[in-house]
Amino acid sequence: MKLELSMWYKILAPRSVVLVSTVNNDGVSNAAPFSFVMPVSTEPPMIAFASDPGHHTVKNIKMTGDFVVNIPGADILDKLWTCAKSFAYGVSEIEKAGLTEEKSENVKSPRIKESIGFFECKLSRIEDIGDHVLIIGDVLLAGVKDKFFSGGKYLIKKANPLIHIGGPEFALIGEIVKNR
Ligand SMILES: Cc1cc2nc3c(=O)[nH]c(=O)nc-3n(C[C@H](O)[C@H](O)[C@H](O)COP(=O)(O)O)c2cc1C
Repeated sequence: MKLELSMWYKILAPRSVVLVSTVNNDGVSNAAPFSFVMPVSTEPPMIAFASDPGHHTVKNIKMTGDFVVNIPGADILDKLWTCAKSFAYGVSEIEKAGLTEEKSENVKSPRIKESIGFFECKLSRIEDIGDHVLIIGDVLLAGVKDKFFSGGKYLIKKANPLIHIGGPEFALIGEIVKNR
């Protein structure tokens, strides 16, 4: 079958999902899930995600020039879902969701303590792309909980990251297959 073009990306799934945390000039934090996310350069380390231009996340990033990409595990699915709800600008989803802010080392935006890992990012540029804006950032610092990384390897089954299928549906890592 051919797909309606309005649905084209539905089979580009599952996708990694991240929680992007930001702060505004009044010091109020914000967090929202994004699954249109990808690494775009290893050296220098750079990441990009696509957002609706109207999201508060974009407003804050334009204000401060930075953001944190947090990797959520299955244990905070309900909290991630709260962060996706539409709150008035100036209301902290991090607080509403019962998540814990942690001070970042290199950026104003806070990290989310409950995450598997994080990337502290400085805004490189914002590009208009169709009905989204592409936020491109330099990764200044990356971190992961010790228990989820050993011998240069990501212990992904133990970390149990959320993977987004679409709408309220998520997947978790099941079987890992290896090419011989
Ligand atoms: C799993 C999941 C993934 C999402 N991915 C994106 C995305 O990639 N781009 C986007 O613009 N919105 C995405 N959204 C919607 C935003 O997270 C949502 O509209 C949020 O309220 C925006 O918050 P903000 O206005 O505080 O930035 C996603 C929502 C969920 C639940």
